[in-house]
Amino acid sequence: MRKGYFITIEGIDGSGKSTQAKLLHQYLQEQGYRALLTREPGGTDLAEEIRRVILTPGKEELDPMAEILLYAASRAQHVNGLIRPALESGAIVISERFIHSSLAYQGYGLGRDLDLILEINRLAIGDLRPDLTFLLDATPETSGERVRSRSQVNGNGYDRIEMRGLSFQERVRAGFLRLAEEDRRILVIKTAGKSIEAVFEELKEIVNRSLNNFK
Ligand SMILES: Nc1ncnc2c1ncn2[C@@H]1O[C@H](COP(=O)(O)OP(=O)(O)O)[C@@H](O)[C@H]1O
Ligand SMILES: [Mg+2]
Repeated sequence: MRKGYFITIEGIDGSGKSTQAKLLHQYLQEQGYRALLTREPGGTDLAEEIRRVILTPGKEELDPMAEILLYAASRAQHVNGLIRPALESGAIVISERFIHSSLAYQGYGLGRDLDLILEINRLAIGDLRPDLTFLLDATPETSGERVRSRSQVNGNGYDRIEMRGLSFQERVRAGFLRLAEEDRRILVIKTAGKSIEAVFEELKEIVNRSLNNFK
């Protein structure tokens, strides 16, 4: 059976993940690939329910360990219900956020042990890892500005994670860059001062090169 190809897009809030994921999905379909676009937390009905629990701000603080486990639970649902079957059928799967978000947000952002997070994820999804990961790197200031204008458009304000503020986003950004230094499957695209189209040109070129042996 032909194996699929798994691409994830990571970065802090407002770094352009949804925008680029959508462009990539459209492009791959135009090229004749069977491509599935999905996102975390979420991706299936139950996983989207868990997403709502994690992201909706409330009176009660979300315990950090509960947060790690909820993300892992949603990921188990997402991988077993959607991603793994799609990959087994030979599709290209694009996920906005995946395991590196857990390491960057709950590991570097909240200061939780990285090995513990990896171990919990191993329990949740086994050894499934992306073939290729993009890190869209942007400063929290630029991203925050984009998130602000987006939430004004949607009129739904900030979610729980977005409410953690600039220094949290700064730690997450540094964490993502650290992860990229240690793993050559993570490719960093600097987005500062680049248009949506310019960022996509870079991303597309890397995808085309990586998929050369796939079609
Ligand atoms: N390179 C860019 N330059 C300017 N604005 C951008 C760029 N990339 C994305 N945006 C805008 O910033 C906002 C946040 O982008 P989005 O893709 O939703 O980010 P994310 O999914 O990472 O949170 C959107 O309104 C989007 O149109
Ligand atoms: Mg998004």
